[in-house]
Order: sequence, then structure tokens, then C-alpha cells
Amino acid sequence: MNQTTPGAGRMAGKTAIVTGGRGDLGSATVRLLAEQGAKVASLDVAGAPAAVEHPSVAEYDVDVTSEASVAGTVASVCADLGTPDVLVNAAGIIGPAGPSHTAEEQDFDLLFNVNVKGVWLMTKHTVPAMLQQQAGSIINFSSIHGITGGKNVPLYHATKGAVRLLTKSDAAAYGGHGIRVNSIHPGSMNTRMSRRSAEQSPIGAAAYYQQLVGGNPLPRQGEPIEIAYAVLYLASDESRFTTGAELVVDGGYTAV
Ligand SMILES: NC(=O)c1ccc[n+]([C@@H]2O[C@H](COP(=O)([O-])OP(=O)(O)OC[C@H]3O[C@@H](n4cnc5c(N)ncnc54)[C@H](O)[C@@H]3O)[C@@H](O)[C@H]2O)c1
Repeated sequence: MNQTTPGAGRMAGKTAIVTGGRGDLGSATVRLLAEQGAKVASLDVAGAPAAVEHPSVAEYDVDVTSEASVAGTVASVCADLGTPDVLVNAAGIIGPAGPSHTAEEQDFDLLFNVNVKGVWLMTKHTVPAMLQQQAGSIINFSSIHGITGGKNVPLYHATKGAVRLLTKSDAAAYGGHGIRVNSIHPGSMNTRMSRRSAEQSPIGAAAYYQQLVGGNPLPRQGEPIEIAYAVLYLASDESRFTTGAELVVDGGYTAV
């Protein structure tokens, strides 16, 4: 176990890869992991503007739906920064709202390619280096929508449910090699993704927010840093006995 020096940061000595690193939740995670002492590779699609300026953050382009792109980018990160101790799979998309019969085949393929295949490909190409050092922590972004169903974005629920069980299955496979795999389940967060969903909602944005967070024990949206702190816990050795777990950070949405 990596014993951090007091004051040196909870991620001192660690290297982390974060996909979706230029998105709202990914960039908050990139920033916090770097501030806590990690070297961070922030991966996102070409053309997305970098969101974090920090001397310990390096930007890489990737398309998580392409095995060639994932393999090449992970190899570059390993060559530049060394073996990754942490992989955070935050890249994700939500797709158009509407019940299942209104979706198109291309919606299905794109959602599953980014949200599920992307997590699997990043895992596939990062795990071999983690196996060599017999240590690692993988954190997969699912959602409250991976725990409960809902009528607005059924395919998104399906992808996030798949991520939840890929996480538990990988936890079972790699635990004996010192690699932990956990999922994180954000509730409604104050991000571009949730603002887009609110704008597209047939019931209107105000009613959408009221429905989503109005009845919560903590009746508000969460802020990206509140997810980043949960990722930090799972990424650090503080969570060394935690694997296959679902860390729900949702203001109590799924509790009531
Ligand atoms: N925002 C919320 O309220 C919320 C709630 C629950 C779960 N989540 C999940 O959290 C994660 C991050 O969400 P966010 O709100 O930061 O969204 P975001 O749209 O701000 O960020 C997602 C990032 O993923 C990147 N991305 C998309 N396709 C990609 C690809 N093919 N290859 C590489 N990168 C790609 C995007 O460019 C973007 O920067 C997602 O997995 C999302 O499903 C979000």
C-alpha cells in the first residue's frame, strides 16, 4: 500500500487516467486528483477544449468507442507518465429523450458504444499494466439511472445498468490481483448534461428539476466537486477494502 506523507496529498505518488476529462464531472475529478498529488492524464475527444490548467495534468485525445484509439492513447500515457494506478471512466453521453419505441438504431449503438463499450475498452487496455504491478483502482461512472428505471431516457438507464454490473464482474475477476473496481452513481448534478436533459424534457425544465430533486432528502442538484470527492475516496488507498461497491452520491434520491 502506498503510504502518503502527511500534507503531501491523498494521491501523492499515484498516476491516474480520467476519461471525459474535459467534461463537467470529469474535469472536477481531474483537478481534485491533481491537487491531491496525482499525475493525471485527462482524456477526451479531439476538439473538446481542455478544462483544467495544472502542472500535473496532461491532455490526450481519445475516442473511447475505438479500440485502436484507446490502445494507442493508453500506450502513450503509460510511456509518458508510467503505469496508471487509477482509471476513472467518466466519459458518457445521455442521448435523446423519449420512450424506447421512439429511439433510432443509431441512438442505441452510439449510447452503448460510448457508455458501455468505452468503459470496457479502457479497462481492457489499462488492466494489463495494473496486473503487472498487482495494484489498481478503477472507478466507473454509472448513475442513479443505473439503479432505478425511468421513462425519459430508457437506453441511458440500460447503459448505466450495464456499467454497474460490468463493475461488479470486473471486481470479482481482478480482486485477487490487487485491482479494485467500483462504480459511482451521481444523482442530478449541476452540469451541461443535466441542463440539456432539462431543456429537452417534455414537461419543461422547471417541472423536470422539481421531479428529479424536489422530493429528495437534500432537495437540490449536486455540484461537480461533490462527485470528485467521492472519486478521490475510491481512487485513494483510504478505500483499500472497498471493491464491487456502488457509491451513490445523489442527495438521497434513491433512498426514498
Ligand atoms: N451530469 C449528471 O447529472 C450526471 C448524473 C449521473 C451520471 N452522470 C455521468 O457522469 C459522467 C460525466 O458526465 P458529465 O455531466 O460530466 O457530462 P459531460 O458531457 O460534461 O462530460 C462527458 C465527457 O465525455 C466526453 N466524451 C463523449 N464521448 C466520448 C468519446 N467517444 N470518447 C471520449 N470522450 C467522450 C465528452 O466530450 C465530455 O467531455 C457521464 O458518464 C454521465 O453519464 C452524469
